[in-house]
Amino acid sequence: MCGIVAYIGKREATPIVLDSLKRLEYRGYDSAGLTVEQEKRGPFVARVAGRVGKLEAKLVGATLPGTVAIAHTRWATHGAPSERNAHPHGDCRARIHLAHNGIIENHAALRATLIANGHRFSSDTDTEVIVHLVEERFRGTLEDAVEAALRELRGTWAIVVLSADDPGKIVAARNSSPLLLGVGSGEYLLASDASAVLASTKKVVYIEDGEMVTVTREGFRITNVDDAELRRRLVEIPWTLQEAEKGGHPHFMRKEISEGPEVVENVMRGRVRGGEVKLGGLETVSKRLDHVERIVLTAMGTSYHAALLGELFFEELAGIPAEVEYAAEFRYKRAPLATRNTALFAISQSGETADTLAALREAKRKGMLTIGIVNVVGSTVARETDAGLYNYAGPEIGVASTKAFLSQVVALLLAAIFLARGRAMGEREAQELLEALIRIPDAIRSLLKEENEIRALAKRFAHYENALFLGRKWSYPVALEGALKLKEVSYLHAEGYNAAEMKHGPIAMIDERFPTVAVVPDDSVRDKTLSNLEEIRARNGPIFAIATRGDRGVSSIADGVISIPRTHEILSPLLAVVPLQLLAYHIGIARGCDVDKPRNLAKSVTVE
Ligand code: G6P
Repeated sequence: MCGIVAYIGKREATPIVLDSLKRLEYRGYDSAGLTVEQEKRGPFVARVAGRVGKLEAKLVGATLPGTVAIAHTRWATHGAPSERNAHPHGDCRARIHLAHNGIIENHAALRATLIANGHRFSSDTDTEVIVHLVEERFRGTLEDAVEAALRELRGTWAIVVLSADDPGKIVAARNSSPLLLGVGSGEYLLASDASAVLASTKKVVYIEDGEMVTVTREGFRITNVDDAELRRRLVEIPWTLQEAEKGGHPHFMRKEISEGPEVVENVMRGRVRGGEVKLGGLETVSKRLDHVERIVLTAMGTSYHAALLGELFFEELAGIPAEVEYAAEFRYKRAPLATRNTALFAISQSGETADTLAALREAKRKGMLTIGIVNVVGSTVARETDAGLYNYAGPEIGVASTKAFLSQVVALLLAAIFLARGRAMGEREAQELLEALIRIPDAIRSLLKEENEIRALAKRFAHYENALFLGRKWSYPVALEGALKLKEVSYLHAEGYNAAEMKHGPIAMIDERFPTVAVVPDDSVRDKTLSNLEEIRARNGPIFAIATRGDRGVSSIADGVISIPRTHEILSPLLAVVPLQLLAYHIGIARGCDVDKPRNLAKSVTVE
């Protein structure tokens, strides 16, 4: 996830794109840059590693009268967050400049061909191939060159391009990454989302996948892949500036929950092919992985709950003994670990959690193979592990982690299937599971449509002061995560427990004022969990359940049910957790809490 913006009009472009970039910073903020077209002096480029504020500081005192500019704020995917990898990227002669959001999947092959043709690269990004391709195809008209270049790309993109050899023009295109055109009076803006254009105009055209737009001061022309011109309607944005940053959602937490389907797609992109899992990030250590006999997963918070599922995946699918340790415990334990042939998976959204980092360093000292499952590219955990997988979930702003959890679970599942090959898992079994995984984003989409029911349930729930979350096997980590979400954002006391263990203590608390949230999909332990729920009902405890659509057994025992679509039982956590995140969100709202910034919590805990 990155933010892109471009301006063409009569006003000085630099302050406009800088202001827009700040509004897009939530999409990524590890580096920023801009290119301003200047009539006589050629394009002016400024880039920094760091935030938009730093870019702005760099430009203080610069005279930049240009009225055409493109700009970018980055969330690194390929290449460390450094100045050389910051966008815009230029061609060999620094005449064409381009900013990109997305991932070019065939960048390695294209890069090799372009280098063979004499192009010189100056960054480690996948993006740079696009600008060299445009250079290669340039015959005097920028839109023709961009159109030709796009035909050779595989992957996702929103791009904005300008060229000193075809001045007074911006060409933009979209494929699976958001892009819109803001239409002002005598001026146009292109941006990743509405928040970046609202200060200038409320009238926009949403650019669709496969479309390209050529913008001059005189007007714009939208074309599709066949170069046919499209007539598009102007849409009036109904949001205020502040609402727009959240994509129209009232809170980042809700926005991030709603991103679940794309998040699952992103973490799988390019990794699931023809019934197989390909993980480029683990290739460098594939020989060592072949000999792994034991796996330790370490993490804190929500990432720890993802790790608990990882343990099940590695054991059930790959047949490799696995265990989970709180990072804070792992580092102080003198457990007799057979460190040879042990792989440590460090799971961290931020890649900066102090305990997780310390555990990772301890594992390295002991000679373990270390693997990171990290969302923030270039973060410390990502840098210090031997190999790893990025989640590609995009920036998570809400302090309570939601979409990152989904992506961590999928990343762990992919890693387990990857390791299972040639071990415990047959080809057909892998294929079936992957086919079911591919259907998960749509299943989450259908779940998100049930939000009204969840909101209604939240209203019934909000007056309680305690709650017990129960689940077994796959649903046990989900119950822990559901309880964590609820306490984080609503300050309602909630405990996650194994449904069977519940009768060894917590059942003493149960009465009509102590509700239970049961995670009970139709899986191999469903009947057992149902028996545990009978024990709750016998003590008049209210029961709210997450169950598979059409499960009469559960609805006859529960006071309220949220249904999830049927799926492969291993994948049920990916569906069960979404309504629990929404439930926590709506209970938090009903109780008047600041769900995006809960009291006492921090997004990244960099102290022990
Ligand atoms: C904090 C955050 C949690 C997060 C945990 C671990 O407590 O509030 O949302 O799960 O840290 O963070 P990490 O970045 O390592 O996943």
